[in-house]
Amino acid sequence: MIVAMARLGVIGKNGNLPWAGKLRADMDHFKKVTMNKTVVMGRKTFDSIPARFKPLPERENVILTRDSNYSQPDCLVLHHRDEVLRLAELRDEVFIIGGAEIYRLMMPYTSRLIVTHLFSLIEGDTFFPPMPGNWNAETLFNQEVDEKNFFPFSVVEYTRD
Ligand SMILES: NC(=O)c1ccc[n+]([C@@H]2O[C@H](COP(=O)([O-])OP(=O)(O)OC[C@H]3O[C@@H](n4cnc5c(N)ncnc54)[C@H](OP(=O)(O)O)[C@@H]3O)[C@@H](O)[C@H]2O)c1
Repeated sequence: MIVAMARLGVIGKNGNLPWAGKLRADMDHFKKVTMNKTVVMGRKTFDSIPARFKPLPERENVILTRDSNYSQPDCLVLHHRDEVLRLAELRDEVFIIGGAEIYRLMMPYTSRLIVTHLFSLIEGDTFFPPMPGNWNAETLFNQEVDEKNFFPFSVVEYTRD
């Protein structure tokens, strides 16, 4: 999984990232980590990506929906959690990229989480689910505020104990 969250686990607001366009270093980090991988997202998260960025380039884009008539050009559409698990067995690595419903659905099967922790309290309506179990945490890097990053954050990798 890869996610960015503010304090209290806020990950979204009004169908979007509350910090959209304000965290360049996190966008670059997301791109670097997911490049050439499979990315799995909920239909609402796919909807939230600006048209010019989708499907996310140079990644296998997978969308989960219950709508059996749904299709998107150059995307793989799946309808059940078990189909995601089967795909994960066939691929080197699969990244769950949100949103909240899909994080919750896939949490029990996740071995590694890369979390951007924004230190700020930011208003939102969508929250990261609990992470049951024991995890080891390693800080990968820290970002201070600058002209392209409006909030300070730390990127932490969690692996199952
Ligand atoms: N901060 C971050 O890192 C981050 C990352 C991603 C997203 N977000 C934010 O999170 C919010 C969106 O999250 P969300 O929880 O509302 O939506 P979501 O998880 O992106 O998508 C939910 C949709 O996924 C499909 N779905 C859910 N469970 C399913 C299942 N068991 N089988 C098949 N399909 C299933 C359904 O699609 P249908 O309705 O089509 O059936 C459902 O409406 C936005 O604000 C977005 O910006 C934040």
